[in-house]
Parts: sequence; C-alpha cells; structure tokens
Amino acid sequence: MSKVAIVTGGSRGIGAAISVALKNAGYSVAANYAGNDEAALKFKAETGIPIYKWSVADYEACVAGIKQVEADLGPVSVLVNNAGITRDAMFHKMTPAQWKEVIDTNLSGVFNMTHPLWSGMRDRKFGRVITISSINGQKGQMGQVNYSASKAGDIGFTKALAQEGARAGITINVVCPGYIATDMVMAVPEKVRESIIAQIPVGRLGEPEEIARCVVFLASDEAGFITGSTITANGGQYFV
Ligand code: CAA
Repeated sequence: MSKVAIVTGGSRGIGAAISVALKNAGYSVAANYAGNDEAALKFKAETGIPIYKWSVADYEACVAGIKQVEADLGPVSVLVNNAGITRDAMFHKMTPAQWKEVIDTNLSGVFNMTHPLWSGMRDRKFGRVITISSINGQKGQMGQVNYSASKAGDIGFTKALAQEGARAGITINVVCPGYIATDMVMAVPEKVRESIIAQIPVGRLGEPEEIARCVVFLASDEAGFITGSTITANGGQYFV
C-alpha cells in the first residue's frame, strides 16, 4: 500500500508542485487548501489528487480534516507544511491583524498540523515532517517583519522537534526556498521584483518543481539519517 502524504496549501504554487511530485513518486496524496475553491477544483481535475478544505490556522479544523483524510486514505506518514501567506507592510504601517494572520497561518499552522499527527507517527515508528520556510526566515526582509518572524520560527520548531522525533523514527526538516515564480512573488511590485531578481546569482526566479524535488528526497526512506536540517534552495542569493 502506498504511503499517505498531506500537503497543506497543496493546490497552488509550490504546494501544487509538491503534491504532484509526491504522487509521481508513488504516494497517496491529500492536497489541503483554505480559500481558493476555483483553483483547487481545477487542480483536482488536472491531477486527480483529492482536495480537502480547511484552514491550518484553526487547530480544531486541522484535527477534523486529518481525521477525514485518514478515513479516506489511511494513516498519514508524510506531512508537508507548505501553507503560507504574506501580509507585507513596512513595520511602521503594519497592523496587529497583519502580524496575527501571518503568525497564525505560517507558524501556528505548523503546530496545528503536526501536533494531531504526532502520536500516530510515534506509534507507527515512522514519520516525515517537512516544512516550507523561506530565505526571508533566514536573512530577514524589509516589509516582512511578520513573515520573516514566522518563517524563522518554523526553523526553530524543526530543530527542537527533530530532537524529540529521532528515536521514534520521525524526521523533521525544513526547506528554505528563495524567490520562486509563484503568485506570491508575482504580487510583489514590479520595480521591487526586478531588484530582487538582480540579487539572485543564477539570474532567475526558481521553479516550484525545484523545491518539490527537495521535498520528495526528504520524504524518502533513504533520507532517514537527515533530521533537523535546513535545505536552502535560493539560486545562491543567500548562504547560511
Ligand atoms: N527589496 C528592495 N527594496 C524594497 C523591498 C525589497 N524587497 N521592499 C520595499 N523596498 C523599497 C521600495 O523600493 C521603496 O524604495 P524607494 O523609496 O527608494 O522607492 C521603499 O522600500 C518603500 O517601499 P514602497 O514605496 O513600496 O512602500 P509601501 O509602503 O507602498 O509598500 C511594501 C511597502 C508593501 C512592503 C512593498 O514595498 C512590498 O510589497 N515590498 C516587497 C516585500 C517583499 O520582498 N516581499 C516578498 C514577497 S515573496 C515571498 O515572501 C516569498 C518568499 O518566501 C521569498
């Protein structure tokens, strides 16, 4: 029987590429999404991957959503915490709501998804938790105090939990993409985006599939000795 994987934010952008790559690698994939029904239905029609709607910012919704996925597909072995949002603003203009929305989704969402799955992974002595952080959690980014804090938090979460999971056969790793050609990056003002691309040594934005390949590797049995680590894929823009 194929292993079951949940990809949050799995119907668009980097998440969609991860869902498809895991399916192609033989996993039974559930793609979670929160808002965009039209995009999710299109994704399902094109890929045949089942979609599940709930917000990762809501713990009880995660518990219920995971229960449904496990009833439909079986116990979850691989969790990809990909769902993420931006509410960019210079700090002097940032509202408490912009701070909270980003932390609730990008950081608490990782807790909300990982926590309900943890005891099952421990009992089965196998699990893979892979969280998509960001170059901006590593280096910080003006206009993104909220986002950078949330993504740096994802790295700390990973390093701490990896120490707890190791003896239970669970690996927890983080992937830090640089600027990838997705709706999120295309929403950045064009002038700013041009200046960002000029800072990427390979001279281009990354492709979602380039991140998906990192995730498939970390999910594999062969990656069992890698835990608590950060894979950086940013075209050389920032070295940790
Ligand atoms: N890089 C370089 N300069 C930047 C910048 C950036 N990322 N963001 C803002 N600036 C500069 C602007 O060019 C502008 O400079 P000038 O005054 O010289 O023209 C100055 O900062 C102020 O910016 P704005 O005039 O745009 O100010 P605003 O209040 O209207 O908007 C903002 C502020 C909403 C933060 C807007 O600038 C913005 O969206 N910036 C992009 C922030 C960013 O990099 N977001 C990344 C999104 S992609 C992502 O998050 C995915 C990932 O993980 C990598």
